[in-house]
Amino acid sequence: MKNICIINGPNLNTLGLRQPEIYGHKTLEQINQDLKTIFAKEANLTFYQSNHEGQIIDFIQGLKADALVINPGALSHTSISIRDALAALSIPIIEVHLSNIFRREAFRHHSLVSEVSLGIICGLKHTGYELAIRALLV
Ligand code: DQA
Repeated sequence: MKNICIINGPNLNTLGLRQPEIYGHKTLEQINQDLKTIFAKEANLTFYQSNHEGQIIDFIQGLKADALVINPGALSHTSISIRDALAALSIPIIEVHLSNIFRREAFRHHSLVSEVSLGIICGLKHTGYELAIRALLV
């Protein structure tokens, strides 16, 4: 079975409470639990969330997985260091955003992480994580 890691960045620990009209009603815990159930027989999933850029970079540097799904939150738009840490990996990466970043404020339209990702899924709320894992298992 493939080992797939799912990383969520700043503020995604407050999913369910935070602007549910944009990000959906499920908590991160519910999303992760549902993914574990859906892929129980197909993949080993591990989860990491942090509100701290440096901690996310440390985690990426120590990552041992076959593939990565990452929603870097607002750091997608600002963090060259996360992009550099991801660029040093030699595994496929899929970038996920719950909201459609292209329908929102202009500062969200550019992601530094997209350029080092195999693909991007955005705007499909929590389903995006499931579709990303599905794609990594093909
Ligand atoms: C987000 C989009 C980002 O612009 C925002 O800062 C987030 C969440 C998303 O999942 O839609 O924190 O990554």
